[in-house]
Amino acid sequence: MSQQMLLQEMMDKFGFKKENLAAYLGVNGKILNSWFASSLSTEYTPMPNGVFNYISEFIEKNSLSGVYNLPLRNKISFFGKNHLLSVEQFDRDSIEEVFSIADLMVPIARRKKISRVLEGAVLGNLFFEASTRTRVSFGTAFCRLGGSVCDTTGFTFSSMAKGESIYDTSRVIAGYVDIMVVRHPDRGSVSEFARASNIPIINGGDGPGEHPSQALLDLYTIKNEFSRLNKSLDGAHISLIGDLKYGRTVHSLIKLLSLYKNLKISLVSPIGLEMPESIINYASRNGNIVSVESSVKKGLSGADVVYATRVQKERFESEFEFRYESDFHINSEKINAFCNKDTIIMHPLPRDSNVGSNDLSTDLNNDDRLAIFRQSDNGIPVRMAIFAILLGVENIVHRNLRDVEWSRPVYISFADAAFHNL
Ligand code: NCD
Repeated sequence: MSQQMLLQEMMDKFGFKKENLAAYLGVNGKILNSWFASSLSTEYTPMPNGVFNYISEFIEKNSLSGVYNLPLRNKISFFGKNHLLSVEQFDRDSIEEVFSIADLMVPIARRKKISRVLEGAVLGNLFFEASTRTRVSFGTAFCRLGGSVCDTTGFTFSSMAKGESIYDTSRVIAGYVDIMVVRHPDRGSVSEFARASNIPIINGGDGPGEHPSQALLDLYTIKNEFSRLNKSLDGAHISLIGDLKYGRTVHSLIKLLSLYKNLKISLVSPIGLEMPESIINYASRNGNIVSVESSVKKGLSGADVVYATRVQKERFESEFEFRYESDFHINSEKINAFCNKDTIIMHPLPRDSNVGSNDLSTDLNNDDRLAIFRQSDNGIPVRMAIFAILLGVENIVHRNLRDVEWSRPVYISFADAAFHNL
């Protein structure tokens, strides 16, 4: 077989694009093109025997097992590297795989089982922007798999305050830890970290860009809640409400939702804080109807899921950029008037609970439609799954489980009761 045919077979069988294949083989695009070129052309170079044999063995091994069983981290790779930077890395099948791994993690996340599968591994949690749950849940998810965590928070106490570049910071930390979670106020900054790094990088929020792990846990929550309610995601009505311009959680979530079919997605935001056009266009596929609403009543009516978001004031260019209207306060009065008995109310949190804020009200706290704490709890198994996948241990987690020997008092709150079938 010619080297060109062999390379083509590898691409066809494993769904690689040229850039994935180049990164996978550890060569640049120019070299790969020279291997693909006709042997009569001046661009042609022969492929080293070692590479030829490696690819042949790889194809043979996977063909023999009957399935092209690439590890999940390679199926969702970012240009051939094992990072999690955007939800655009997923398709429906890979999402289902992530969720079944998250299901396996639930007994560990709920403190029934102990795993040490990541013993010896160190997570670098680099947060250059405010965070509570994302930083702590990534940290605890890693600890619950047996790893250790090193944290840094804010610019003030990091060397970036001394003028260090993203490249240098990333390269240095990659020499200390095995995987990094990075949050940074600039869109695209986490990809810059990834370019300088030879270890996996997870985007924990890049300014108004994306927040892929949050979208995965949001979708995991929707699917869990729907299975309890005997609903299916295809054909559902999802309302996203609030600051859709700067909210990175909704940017990632709507892209993931668009992998499902025949959804009705209502985007409800005050004038000036609408979802960017490019994301709406991306999400309008698979028969999904995305409609922009300025009326809260119209946008929420009949929704299966209401996903509210906080106004991202910290991203406003001036404090006068926008004045939020009281209409966007989501409280029990509006939910009772416009929604159904089985509508799920979600929020990525934090919500602004100050008096007079226009965020999700606390008057829904004893309403079992409020799924926000079940949602934040789901952050642990989903983030454990992400770590297991990126560090290649998702298939051995179940082999390393033992029972916990300690106990803690368990109180099931009203909002959790529905979830526990009480
Ligand atoms: C969100 C974020 O940081 O993007 N929070 C989170 O990670 N759960 C939402 C927000 O800050 O409003």
